[in-house]
Amino acid sequence: MRLSLRFVLPLLLVLAGIAYAVAPLIDQLTLGWFVRDLDSRSALIANTIQEPLLEQLAAGKKVKIQDFFNRITQDERLYAVGYCAAATAKILASRSLPAEIQCPQLERWQNPGRHLLPSAQGPLHIAVRPMTSAATADVAALPGQLVLVHDMSFITRRSEESKRYLFYVFMALGAAVSLITVIVAQLSWRGWMAGVRALLRGEGLLRRPEAHAPPSLPGFKPIARDLQRLISELESENRARDESQLTWTPETLRTILHGELRGEDVIVVSNREPYIHQRRGERVEVQRPASGLVTALEPIMRACSGTWIAHGSGSADREVVDKNDHVAVPPENPAYQIRRVWLTPEEEAGYYYGFANEGLWPLCHIAHVRPIFRSSDWAQYIAVNRKFAQAVMSEAKTKNPIVLVQDYHFALLPKMIRDELPEATIISFWHIPWPNPESFAICPWREEILAGMLGSSIMGFHTQFHCNNFVDTVDRFLEARVDRASFNVSFGGKLTAVRRYPISIAWPPDAELLQKSVPDCRRDIRQMNDLPPEHKLGIGVDRLDYTKGILERFRAIERLLELNPDWIGRFTFVQIAAPTRSGIDEYQHHEAQVRTLAARINARFERRGPAPIGLKIEQHAPPQVYEYFRAADLCFVSSLHDGMNLVAKEFVAARDDERGVLILSEFTGAARELPEALIVNPYDADQCAAALHLALSMTDVEQRDRMRLMRGLVAEFNVFRWAGRMLLDAATKRRHNRLTDKPDLLI
Ligand code: G6P
Repeated sequence: MRLSLRFVLPLLLVLAGIAYAVAPLIDQLTLGWFVRDLDSRSALIANTIQEPLLEQLAAGKKVKIQDFFNRITQDERLYAVGYCAAATAKILASRSLPAEIQCPQLERWQNPGRHLLPSAQGPLHIAVRPMTSAATADVAALPGQLVLVHDMSFITRRSEESKRYLFYVFMALGAAVSLITVIVAQLSWRGWMAGVRALLRGEGLLRRPEAHAPPSLPGFKPIARDLQRLISELESENRARDESQLTWTPETLRTILHGELRGEDVIVVSNREPYIHQRRGERVEVQRPASGLVTALEPIMRACSGTWIAHGSGSADREVVDKNDHVAVPPENPAYQIRRVWLTPEEEAGYYYGFANEGLWPLCHIAHVRPIFRSSDWAQYIAVNRKFAQAVMSEAKTKNPIVLVQDYHFALLPKMIRDELPEATIISFWHIPWPNPESFAICPWREEILAGMLGSSIMGFHTQFHCNNFVDTVDRFLEARVDRASFNVSFGGKLTAVRRYPISIAWPPDAELLQKSVPDCRRDIRQMNDLPPEHKLGIGVDRLDYTKGILERFRAIERLLELNPDWIGRFTFVQIAAPTRSGIDEYQHHEAQVRTLAARINARFERRGPAPIGLKIEQHAPPQVYEYFRAADLCFVSSLHDGMNLVAKEFVAARDDERGVLILSEFTGAARELPEALIVNPYDADQCAAALHLALSMTDVEQRDRMRLMRGLVAEFNVFRWAGRMLLDAATKRRHNRLTDKPDLLI
């Protein structure tokens, strides 16, 4: 209302001013018209009466003339009539003639514009007309002039009346214009405010019009774009500020999902499932696989609910699913659904063992194992990607779901989903390294793989180095536009943002894992391994994979004992190696090599006390692994190449006593985040041996200082932040997409 008053008040003032200025003008104008009318009327009357007047004058009947004048002035307007025979004569007139009118002063009324005589009852109009009757033969013989006086008080009355009408007209006009102004202003303001609100909500003015929605106003688009840009800037500033203050928790993720993403369902797709049901005789056992991917994503899904689509690989998996192949997990406290996809042995052989793990895995890790590419494997890889795409379609509840595609098993999946659901937000994460373009070039289907990945809205890697390699590879092999300033790739009319999201672990770690005290863990683990209480213990936990540098690790231990024989019989390294991909020759060969090397080294040093290497080729559940972490003096991660390596972060998380030393390969993503670890080149046995010696001799104070810094980093950059940042970027993308005609805007 106050806003409307701002329009209406000035408007009314202007109208009142106009009325005030116009009224005298109108007065003058109408007065002029009336005077002209009375002049003509006087002429008419003069013409009419001079005939009888002349006759009476000729008869010398002055009294009759006066009667005649009195009679004709009974007319409502004609106020008085007089006759002057000469300028010096006495005027013959009706009774009503004002005294000011005398024959000698007649000239006074003859000048133009001088026809008015004020009087008590209002102005009088005086007209002086010479006698000009055609009937008179000798005009000069009968000189004289007629004086006609009209009452003009009706003019004053009319002027008052017209002023009143004028006032009413302007009032009505003012009211009408004000009303229209207020209505139009209110409607426009409401429309504009609705537009701005929609914009702030992330809907709105730049959105493609839906069938039922009113068309957007083209004139608003530039404003909307500016506003949208401003909002984005504010958002990123706020996010930067928020992130620096925020402790990322499962609750933070839930807030993002329900706030930023309006409770959208999240669909995760990975090859490995987080819970595997295995038949053990009569019983069904639930297994947790040893996989960095599962370690990272499981807490996210617990927080977000949603559906996790994965290969049902357990022997009892089919027994526990419902008719839609769903099973609720975690078994003890269900929080989300697994949708299992069934693969034939041929599909699994070609897609998983073949193309993914004999082709892409060595291709991306550059661990000096030759990739093997078979066209039959490629065909299965395409078929299985399509199978998972269909599963995504059947699980999607809306036309624009949020799909998190995991890892190198699904390079083709983003494009397949994009083709079916163009409005989906597809965030793909590549959990392993991305090689340089020269290395990637050997893949016979490199273009198809890149095009498949670029179906993603966001393509994530652990490190900036991997993002750079990916963008270089796209630039080299595809007809794509690569914007190196923003790290956006435009391909086939779509934009993919290439982003770094360093993966991590849940923080704080599950309380259950830290339940047993460090001294108890130290004691129990040493007893379990027949080691004396003060025996120094190192730990390694990996899948039995050639990229993990287990052979290099053992060689470093051998070198330590060669260079520092004091440690012989006083130090044992326990290697937990979870069997993996054992259907692949290279993995079988690697396992044999690991066993042989451990045996050889043990044989060499065993005579002087406990064996230096305790090799445990078996799957260990997280509580057992954490017990080892807490019991150990050092943890050695010697990957030849690793996207991130979560074992390093888990060891740090396990050490709430702020003790223990981490030795970490420089070729892991984790090395970029944990520089307080002893960073080594696993190919350099002497350097690794020196690091082992340093770790075994490190003072408690230095251990604490290093561990404290590493714990601080893992706490802050935990897995909820990893997922949260991806989801926030997804939310920003979705908001931008709603605001623009373009399907994928830069973020
Ligand atoms: C590690 C890698 C993941 C990969 C997983 C596969 O965790 O970091 O990128 O997905 O291994 O292991 P799997 O046993 O499923 O072949």
